[in-house]
Amino acid sequence: MSTAPAFTPRVFSGIQPSGGLTLGNYLGALKRFVEKQEQGVETIYCLVDLHAITVWQDPSKLRHSTREAAAAFLAAGIDPARSILFNQSQVPAHAELAWIFNCVARMGWLSRMTQFKDKAGKNRENAAVGLFVYPNLMAADILAYHATHVPVGEDQKQHLELTRDIAIKFNHDYGVEFFPVVEPVIEGVATRVMSLRDGTKKMSKSDPSDMSRINLTDDADTIAQKIRKAKTDPEPLPDEVSGLESRPEARNLVNIYAALEDTTPTAVLRAFGGHGFGSFKPQLADLAVTKLAPISAEMTRLMADPAEIDRILGDGAARADAIARPILERCFDIVGMVRSRPV
Ligand code: TYM
Repeated sequence: MSTAPAFTPRVFSGIQPSGGLTLGNYLGALKRFVEKQEQGVETIYCLVDLHAITVWQDPSKLRHSTREAAAAFLAAGIDPARSILFNQSQVPAHAELAWIFNCVARMGWLSRMTQFKDKAGKNRENAAVGLFVYPNLMAADILAYHATHVPVGEDQKQHLELTRDIAIKFNHDYGVEFFPVVEPVIEGVATRVMSLRDGTKKMSKSDPSDMSRINLTDDADTIAQKIRKAKTDPEPLPDEVSGLESRPEARNLVNIYAALEDTTPTAVLRAFGGHGFGSFKPQLADLAVTKLAPISAEMTRLMADPAEIDRILGDGAARADAIARPILERCFDIVGMVRSRPV
């Protein structure tokens, strides 16, 4: 991995525990988090519960979703002995550094964030202030660990550019080389998994139609039914990737197949070019069930023991805090805060 010379490579990423995780989260993020762990680089993964409450969350559902998302990480292959896995609110450095960044980032930068515009919708006056400054907290998540590499799906690219801008401005304003300028890691064929009902819209947990997404908790029959009913066009699959250009739904299903099978769209079309969806969809459904059913079964098993999940998150939080706290203290020093409280 290439990185700025002064900073040791360290991977950080996060997922919001606001409702169940989707196939998009799995292929665009979770699966790739496991790959990073397997490459032996230091990996820190966070369930960003403070981000989740930028839109209303029922407290008991939030607690459940946080544990369920933790179960998804573990079931997908995150090993809490090799990666740090925790929930954001257990490490105060995130919120503290976010305040510093509220004073670094400019209103104009945040006004350009498309996720804010999408989520706030027409009624911007009524959006939580937290939703507007959300990207500053995201920058704090990453920079509190001096993380250098951030694996995410394509939709997070703009937020990572803002994280870079914040690091550059902080370093410039205070005349230091303190924060790394992070590398977004947006790789693979599933950086933007699309809705099963509309190939021009991202697959999302907030889509009102459950048929638009595959949830990691869906059973085999539900997965098969959702793929069978996925929107497609009447043409057979092309022989080459260029033939998918104006066919968003077909391209999406081919990309999902390739990502699940760890292969390329070219290889998928070599096998299925000329086939209609009547024969492709059942094969895709079988593949999805083969890959996802063990994860959802393991999640159910883990969820039977929430105390063990809480223990893992607590242990991860203590290890995360040990990294972030000294970085935050140095940041306060740079900014000019008097630090004299007895420890
Ligand atoms: P969130 O919770 O919306 O999504 C978590 C991760 O899943 C990816 N993703 C997708 N990838 C491909 N196709 C899709 N349809 C799809 N939907 C979601 C996202 O790109 C993301 O990588 N702001 C972040 C969470 C966050 C974070 C961070 C990420 C907070 N702090 C620090 C990285 C570093 C978010 O809302 O992701």
